[in-house]
Order: sequence, then structure tokens, then C-alpha cells
Amino acid sequence: MYNKLMTCLKSVKEKIDFKPETALVLGSGLGDYADEIQVVQTIEYTSIEGFPVSTVKGHKGRFVFGYVGEKPVVIMQGRVHYYEGYKMSDVVLPTRLMGMLGAKKILLTNAAGGANPSFKPGDFMIITDHITTGIPSPLIGPNIDGLGTRFPDMSEVYSKRLRDIIRKNAKECNIEIQEGVYVQFTGPNYETPAEVRLAQRWGGDAVGMSTACEAMAAHHMGLETCGISCITNMAAGISKEQLNHKEVQETADRVAKSFKELVTKTIIDM
Ligand code: HPA
Repeated sequence: MYNKLMTCLKSVKEKIDFKPETALVLGSGLGDYADEIQVVQTIEYTSIEGFPVSTVKGHKGRFVFGYVGEKPVVIMQGRVHYYEGYKMSDVVLPTRLMGMLGAKKILLTNAAGGANPSFKPGDFMIITDHITTGIPSPLIGPNIDGLGTRFPDMSEVYSKRLRDIIRKNAKECNIEIQEGVYVQFTGPNYETPAEVRLAQRWGGDAVGMSTACEAMAAHHMGLETCGISCITNMAAGISKEQLNHKEVQETADRVAKSFKELVTKTIIDM
């Protein structure tokens, strides 16, 4: 794993000399954000030696380097999902790579299903904590001591300081914001109603197929981490509707403008 990371790092550094301060991962339907920033350079995942490449339609696969305000950022436009068949350590390789490129902070975003019945599609949720019981830990395997410790503490994966900033910015933008626990399942299937009830009883508020593993890898290597879920649909069994990817995309499109506003303000402040 370490060698693979170093190969990718070398490959990226050959293409660009840029030190990001903040990393941003764009979720399903939220990828357009990268078109709005002051772009310095883009690097396609396919051009990076050894890099796991995303196969989901609509997920662009590239790093975008540039500035949000004065802040140098690296953006993942398109992420790698466990359900595509990669090992968990490959799924979090891009996150680690952004940290190794110099990012000290990371904002993770995603589309998620609302498991908390008081949520509604189109809401944003500050991720306060997560549950990864349904997936393997991305830290399984030989520990890379250069990144972090073997048995990392997980009592504050999502930085309180950054959560406060997101809450304040949502208020300033007049965006109603929810807060809650994100439960990661493997996907690619949506959950069954019974699995959603399980997530609720565990204390989960949203369900999804990404993010928590990335947060764990980021936190392991000392990145200050935060996350925002866009609740694109109510999770299975909560509403009578069947779930489909089109609905996820449509809701994400509908709220894209407020999402972009919130993300921009947050990156500048974090
Ligand atoms: N479940 C899992 N992942 C998702 C969902 C969902 O309901 N909506 C968007 N991503």
C-alpha cells in the first residue's frame, strides 16, 4: 500500500507543483462545484500511475487543483467506492494522497438517504459521527506508521471546530441545517427497510455508501476532517416510493446552488 501511494504521489508531483491547504471530496450530483472555482490544473485519475479509477456513470474522475477565494485546494471530482470492487485500502488511497500532497483539512460531501424521519429530501446534514460496522475498516492491513498510529482514537473524527463553522455558515446563508450520524453500508444496492430500521436503532440519521471510510483514513493521518451530507431521498421504507439514482441526482441538482454557497464559505473559513 505504501509503495502504491508513493508511486501515485510521484506521478502527481511530476504533473503539478501545487500545495493544497484544504481537500474537498464532491459527492454524487455535486460534482459541478469544481467548475466554479479558479482552476489551476486538472489531473485525470487515469493519468496517475497505480490510481484506482471510478466506473460510476456521472462521476467524473479527476483531481482539480485551484483556489477557492485565496485558499489553495485540491478537489476530488468523483470518488472511488467500495462497491466498485476495490479493496478498502484502495478506496481511501485518493484521500491519503491529498493529505500527502500537503492538505491539512478535508471537507467530505455526499448524497445520502435520510433515516431520521424528521429529515426531508434536499436537507443538508452536518456529519457529527459515523458508524462503519457494515464495512471493513480502511485501516486493516499493515499500518503505515508514517501516516498514523496502529490503533487510532476515533472519539472526534468530525472536528468540532469545523462543525461549528459549517453551522455558522449555514445560518448566514439562511440554509436550514440538520446534524447527525452517518451510517455507511457497502452498496451498490440501496438498503432494505429492515436495514434502515437497524441504522435508526443504532443511532444513525443518514445512510450512504461512501465518506465514513474516507473520514477514518483522513483522521488516521491527522487531517482535520468534516463532512456534509445532502439528503437526496428518504431511506428505504420511510417513504412509500422506491429508490432510484435519478431521484438522487435530481434532488442534488435542485439544491446545488445552496450547497455551493455553503461549501465555498466553509472552505474559506476552515
Ligand atoms: N442509501 C444509500 N446511499 C444513498 C442513498 C440511500 O438511500 N441516497 C443517496 N445515496
